[in-house]
Amino acid sequence: RSEKNCAVLDDVVLDEMTSWERTAVGLVPTMGGLHAGHLSLIQRARQENSTVIVSIFVNPLQFSPNEDFNRYPRTLELDMQLCEQAGVDVIFAPTPEAMGVPQKSIQEAKVTQVIPPSAMITGLCGGFRQGHFQGVATIVTKLFNLVQPDRAYFGQKDGQQLAIIKRLVADLNFPIEIVACPTVREASGLALSSRNQYLTATQKQQAAVLYRGLQKAEAIFKSGVRNRSQLIAAVQQEVAMVSNVLVEYIELVEPTTLMSLVKVQEEGMLAIAARMGSTRLIDNILLSDR
Ligand code: PAJ
Repeated sequence: RSEKNCAVLDDVVLDEMTSWERTAVGLVPTMGGLHAGHLSLIQRARQENSTVIVSIFVNPLQFSPNEDFNRYPRTLELDMQLCEQAGVDVIFAPTPEAMGVPQKSIQEAKVTQVIPPSAMITGLCGGFRQGHFQGVATIVTKLFNLVQPDRAYFGQKDGQQLAIIKRLVADLNFPIEIVACPTVREASGLALSSRNQYLTATQKQQAAVLYRGLQKAEAIFKSGVRNRSQLIAAVQQEVAMVSNVLVEYIELVEPTTLMSLVKVQEEGMLAIAARMGSTRLIDNILLSDR
């Protein structure tokens, strides 16, 4: 990028000279409907790479036939403006045909699939979205092969996805650094999501109870509570205050392996999924003493 400042490296930073980024490419994979959560990933990528590529692709493989593929927000014009403002170099917005994936779910599409370890895809959202993470892993593999980035940026908001992508990169030897970025929230605490567009103003207010529940658990964690049942109960109690939030799961897992935890030792991920009308909401927090 021409407007980049010229870096002056002297002998104080001699080490930096040899490791100086020459052509680092950062990729931010998205499905569009861009919001401040996506933009935080883009900003981070902008800081760390000479080239920033944002992919925008509503991936049919990760939606089940009964899910919201058809009504998923498609706002390419606006997304392009936001990317331009954020200093993105390239927007990669292929058609399903160009990506070689038909507009079908993973169950129906006859394509080669990347299947993450079953222990990582059976629990949490995997139990409610059959084939979802196979669809994600397959498309992300294709994006990695097409773009060949040095770094790729993912949000903690989708904690299970993040763990699965880290594992995928390790298992398939992609020379890519996965950078995890914190969850961006509204003032109410509601985690930003493209799907929040489906919610009315009242529903949005009510949906903030998910994060309030997680915060209740975080408060007792900080006061020394480590065991699963108490942490989960704290979330449950709070979320039960809003009757039209239907909980799918509240789970405590180890953030890297996604194995269920009876007790937080080093670090735990407390995750929740719930339905509000036809809209599915997810959120999580990391609990650790670090
Ligand atoms: P999408 O839901 O568009 O999200 C793209 C990226 O933005 C993901 O890494 C997600 O975790 C991150 N993100 C979403 N909301 C966020 C928030 N509130 N704060 C921080 N980061 C947030 O996730 C996908 O698309 C797809 O599964 C994809 C990886 C692109 C594969 O199709």
